[in-house]
Amino acid sequence: MYSDSDDSGFAQGSDAVLFGASRLGTKDHWDSVYTREIVNYEESGDIGDIWYGEETAEKLVNWVSNNIDDTNARILDVGCGNGHLLVKLAAEGYTNLTGTDYSLQAVELAQSIAKGSSFSDRITVLEQNFLDPADVARVAGHEKFDVVLDKGAYDAISLMLKDDEDANTCLEVDRAAIDIYPNSVVASLKDAGILLLTSCNWTEDELISRFKEHLEFAGRIKHQSFRFGGVVGQTVVTVAFKKRK
Ligand SMILES: C[S@@+](CC[C@H](N)C(=O)[O-])C[C@H]1O[C@@H](n2cnc3c(N)ncnc32)[C@H](O)[C@@H]1O
Repeated sequence: MYSDSDDSGFAQGSDAVLFGASRLGTKDHWDSVYTREIVNYEESGDIGDIWYGEETAEKLVNWVSNNIDDTNARILDVGCGNGHLLVKLAAEGYTNLTGTDYSLQAVELAQSIAKGSSFSDRITVLEQNFLDPADVARVAGHEKFDVVLDKGAYDAISLMLKDDEDANTCLEVDRAAIDIYPNSVVASLKDAGILLLTSCNWTEDELISRFKEHLEFAGRIKHQSFRFGGVVGQTVVTVAFKKRK
């Protein structure tokens, strides 16, 4: 069982199967985070947290520009938070960008930030619970997405409390919720579509093993790694998967 956390509150990678539940897996937590970040943005223009840092975000954008030639490709950023990745991708020339989040406050913040950029015509932000099949189908539509990006949403989902009701008394991770996630990715992607997933809770091997039924390994982005107890680990992993036909 995994335990350690860094300042972000997310557990760092290990070969554990599941992590302890945490408030970071609750919608209440994210609603209150983005309520605060909306105020900060309105008062100072500060867009708030860039999860896993600017350098990681830059690497993701570079990976997309190096691997997705079609700038009209339909791209979804699931659990987009403040939507900074969407703005960066729009600045790279991508025109068909959708961000979703289950926190209405995140959606509101991301919409304001997109509007404040010069790329609002390229970005749509919608409320979506990525674990609700009807919601996933509504957002994907018939056409579905060429690319799904996830920076931190699967990590948050992996820390969900069983009932999402009482963070103090309910400490069992909702395993069913974690298992729904790959189905939602598959339902969102076209055949041979790409998932680019960034995590600090799961190792590359764990992700490959969890998704192997529907998604095949298609590449990785290297992040700074460190050695601990003789083992070379990584603080953040990004793995690209291709939807199996
Ligand atoms: C760690 S934050 C990452 C935010 C953003 N992707 C970033 O990199 O800054 C996790 C995000 O996932 C969202 N999230 C968690 N569970 C979700 C779910 N079931 N459906 C949609 N979004 C979810 C949270 O509201 C939060 O915005």
